[in-house]
Amino acid sequence: MNLISMRETSKAFIEDILKTAKKHEKTAREKKVLSTLDDKTLGILFFEPSTRTRLSFQAAMRRLGGESIGFNDAHFSSSAKGETLSDTIRVVEGYVDAIVLRHSVEGAAARAAEVTTLPVINAGDGANQHPTQALLDLYTIQKEKGKLEGLTVVLAGDLKYGRTVHSLMYALSHFGCTIQLHCPPSLKMPESIVEEVRQKTTVEEVTDFTQADVVYATRVQRERFADPEEYQKSLYVIDADVMATLKKDAMLMHPLPRVQEITPDVDLDPRAKYFEQTFYGVPVRMAILETLMEGKNP
Ligand code: NCD
Repeated sequence: MNLISMRETSKAFIEDILKTAKKHEKTAREKKVLSTLDDKTLGILFFEPSTRTRLSFQAAMRRLGGESIGFNDAHFSSSAKGETLSDTIRVVEGYVDAIVLRHSVEGAAARAAEVTTLPVINAGDGANQHPTQALLDLYTIQKEKGKLEGLTVVLAGDLKYGRTVHSLMYALSHFGCTIQLHCPPSLKMPESIVEEVRQKTTVEEVTDFTQADVVYATRVQRERFADPEEYQKSLYVIDADVMATLKKDAMLMHPLPRVQEITPDVDLDPRAKYFEQTFYGVPVRMAILETLMEGKNP
């Protein structure tokens, strides 16, 4: 009943979500309201900043006919008075039917799931996992490329602290994708993830984007750096010159927010798909809410 990590999420569950999301795409695009969850309330508890994840969860719940309550600034919640996460979860359990949690501590969503019987959805736990993002990323790739199987996907940028790419590694491993890693030496993908995913598919390091069907760029996660100079040294840019090295039918993704790693002129390149990607967050999160709140297990 939970969605905590892509590491333990099965291919069957992923395929089920992608199929259900497809069913909801029209409703999401036309901003219609169904009655599927009209007797349900979603708790959205965000202890870290968010625009897309929070708003698309709210929009998704609304499209399914349900309501959302919660907070997006923990300074105005009782955690500012010293309440533990476990206590907050136990309290909110009495008000809602499922909980979406974003927190800076790795393992926070797993901890929350231990203290409640309600479905818990991890909307990002520190640098660890962001499984709902990985599902919408897969949906976007499938939509734009017509398939997932056999693609070459380059994950670029902050592979050390980026939770989106940690989740995406596991997600892509189910579909026989070749995963190429492109990052500065200080921001490498954790070896434990590489080792695990390598048992299922090819993972290799690259220094260019020339073989990519998909380039997945990420923001260097400034908030996870202890040393501001290290952050500055890790910055990279995808501009028109870099785009010129990509295949004609490649696509460029980014979970957003972007800071400086993709120059604004690249937005006009038809291969840039990051704004479409954000829209797909709505049908995919509708599928996740419908599936988990109806009691299926990933
Ligand atoms: C990402 C996150 O929060 O991990 N944002 C998102 O949910 N789309 C990526 C990021 O913050 O860089």
